[in-house]
Amino acid sequence: MRRKNIVLCGFMGSGKSTIGNLLSKKMGMAFIDLDAYIEKKENKSVSQIFEESGEEYFRQLERDAVKELAYKKSIILATGGGTLTFQQNVDTLKNANNKIILLDLPVEVISKRLQGDTKRPLLNRPDKEKVMRELYEKRLPLYRSAADIIVNAANSPMQVCMEIISNI
Ligand code: S3P
Repeated sequence: MRRKNIVLCGFMGSGKSTIGNLLSKKMGMAFIDLDAYIEKKENKSVSQIFEESGEEYFRQLERDAVKELAYKKSIILATGGGTLTFQQNVDTLKNANNKIILLDLPVEVISKRLQGDTKRPLLNRPDKEKVMRELYEKRLPLYRSAADIIVNAANSPMQVCMEIISNI
């Protein structure tokens, strides 16, 4: 029988890839990072895709990738910070019976984690802090409404994994 996929959702820097990796080992399920999947298919980094073809093109690749992965068997999928802010992606994943878990983290912690980061094209700008906070405020309600389960991601990765396992 097909086991429900676990989809990790949350803002940039919320630990989706770290937690996904750890969870996959603990649960014996394969781990797929959506950004890495897109990068491999395109043979380009996410930053390169944004730079050369723009955000809208990246979002199209992201939608296609979500459709391709939604019906996989027993995977843990780490989404990008923007993925589940689009209702179409939420619908695709829910229709395929995936379980969406929000890694919830205060903006102050995210801000600290993203200091010095240059890999996020949306925040690669002089007014990074302001843009990040605005994006966070706008996205949080969307993440919350998409999620089946919300976990506190301020704890250690191991604690977060245990919380997920005891809630699914
Ligand atoms: C994005 C987050 C990134 C990546 C892209 C867009 C976003 O993923 O998908 O840069 O819109 O928040 P991470 O959340 O893994 O950084």
